Amino acid sequence: MYIDEDEILAHISAKPFQLIAEAADELGVEVYVIGGYVRDIFLNRPSKDIDVVAVGSGIELARRVARKLGRGANLSVFKNFGTAQVKAGDLELEFVGARKESYSHDSRKPIVEDGTLEDDQNRRDFTINALAICLNKDRYGELVDPFGGLDDMDELTIRTPLDPDVTFSDDPLRMMRAIRFATQLGFFIEPETFDAISRNRERISIISKERIADELNKIVLAPKPSIGFDLLDKCGLLPLIFPELCALKGVETREGIGHKDNFAHTLMVLDRLSKTSDNLWLRWSALLHDIAKPATKRFDPRLGWTFHNHNFIGERMIPGIFRKMKLPMNEKMKYVQKMVSLHMRPIALSDDEVTDSAIRRLLFDAGDDIDDLMKLCEADITSKNPEKVRRFLENFRKVREKLADIEEKDRVRNFQPPVTGEEIMRTFGLPPSPPVGKLKEAIKNAILDGVIPNEYEAARRFLIEQAKTMGLTPVESPEGEG
Ligand code: CTP
Repeated sequence: MYIDEDEILAHISAKPFQLIAEAADELGVEVYVIGGYVRDIFLNRPSKDIDVVAVGSGIELARRVARKLGRGANLSVFKNFGTAQVKAGDLELEFVGARKESYSHDSRKPIVEDGTLEDDQNRRDFTINALAICLNKDRYGELVDPFGGLDDMDELTIRTPLDPDVTFSDDPLRMMRAIRFATQLGFFIEPETFDAISRNRERISIISKERIADELNKIVLAPKPSIGFDLLDKCGLLPLIFPELCALKGVETREGIGHKDNFAHTLMVLDRLSKTSDNLWLRWSALLHDIAKPATKRFDPRLGWTFHNHNFIGERMIPGIFRKMKLPMNEKMKYVQKMVSLHMRPIALSDDEVTDSAIRRLLFDAGDDIDDLMKLCEADITSKNPEKVRRFLENFRKVREKLADIEEKDRVRNFQPPVTGEEIMRTFGLPPSPPVGKLKEAIKNAILDGVIPNEYEAARRFLIEQAKTMGLTPVESPEGEG
C-alpha cells in the first residue's frame, strides 16, 4: 500500500498527540499509537478511541500527559490492569505499557510481563490491528508494520500475526472478532487463519456469553450480516453459539415435494432488511422470524410442508434464546417477540376483500411498531421469481395505504379504550374482578370491529347495554356524583 505520510501526520496532529510526544521524550520512553485507531486511518473510518503504548510505564506517561493538558483533561487510573485513561475533548486516550503475554490453556487471563514494542505487536489479534505509529519527536509519524498489515489491508485480508493456532488459543474471542471484522469490512479471512478457527472452535466455551453477544450484535449491524453467519456456519462455531439458527438449515423432500432452506431464507431476509433499517432489534427479529419452523414442520400429503403457528411458537422460544445468549430480557426482547408473532399478519391483509376491522386490529396490536413490521414483511419476500416479488410488494403498498387511511380515520395506533377499568368499577360498584376485564375487552373489540366509534359517549352507552346482559346495573353516574 502506498503510504501517504501527510495523511498519517494529519491524524496525529491534534494537541494531545503532541503533548504525548513531549511527555514521552521527557520520561525517555518510546511511545506509539497502536491498534484500531491506526487501522482506521487507512480504512478512512472515523475513530475517537486511541490506544497508546509506552515502552515503560503507561500510567506514569498518562499522568504527565493529563498534567500538560490541564483543566480540560480527565484522568482515570486502573492500577490493577496497569492502564490509565485520559479524556480530552471528544478523544479518549488509553495508556498502557508494552506487554508480553503468555496464556494458560483454560483461561483468557494471561500472565503479563513488561515487554518491547515487538512483544506487544506479537500478542495482537490481526496484522491490520498490529500497526503502530511512533510519536517520539525524532520518529514522529513513523509507521511500524512488522507483519505486512498494510499489504493485508490492500488485499482485504484478515490474518493473524503469529501462528493462528497460538493467537486463537490464547484468546478464543478472536475467532469471533475475525469473522466480525470480515463482515464489517468486507474482508476475506486468509485460509490458514480460517482453518485454525475451525480447529480451535471448541475453545469458544471459555468466552463469556456477553462478549459473544457483543460480537454477534456487531455482525448483525454490518451492511451485509449474512457474510458473518455463513462464516460462523462454515467454521463450525454456529452450532456452538446459536444452535437454534443452525437447526433452520437443510431441505427435506417427501413425495417429490421439498421445502425451502430456512437458514438461507432467513439470511436473505436479514440482508434485505439491513438495506432499509439499522435497528438492531428489528434485525434480530428478521434473524428469528422463522426460528420455530423446525419445531412446527409437518408433512401433510394433501397440503405438502406446513409450519403451523411457527410465528406464535417462535414468540414463545425467544425468552429462552435471549436468556441463554445473554441478550437483554427487557422491552427489546418484547419488541422482538411482537415482531415475530405478527410477521404473518400483513400478508393476509393484502386481499381486496379485507375488512377495516382486520386492519384496525393489526394497527392496535402493532401500535407504533407498525412501520417496522411492514419493513420486516417486505424483506420476507425472497422469491426468485421477479414477477411474484413485484406482485407481493405491490400488495404491501396497498396494505400500507389501507393502514394509513384507517389510522387517519380511527386513530387506533395508540388506542386506549375511552372508558377505563376504574370507571367500570365505580359505575357498577365492582371490586377488581373478571367482569371488569370482560367489559373492558368488550368495549375494545366493539371499537376495533367498528361496531361503535372510538368515542367516550358511544363507549359509555355500549358499556351500560353490555353490563345489562351480565345482570349488572349502574350504581353511579359517569361523573361519580351519585
Ligand atoms: N486486541 C487483541 N485481541 C482482542 C481484542 C483486542 O489483540 N481480543 C487488540 C487489537 O490490536 C485491537 C486493540 O487490541 O486493535 C483494541 O481492541 P478493541 O478496542 O477491542 O478493538 P478495535 O480493534 O479498536 O475495534 P472495535 O472498536 O471495532 O472493536
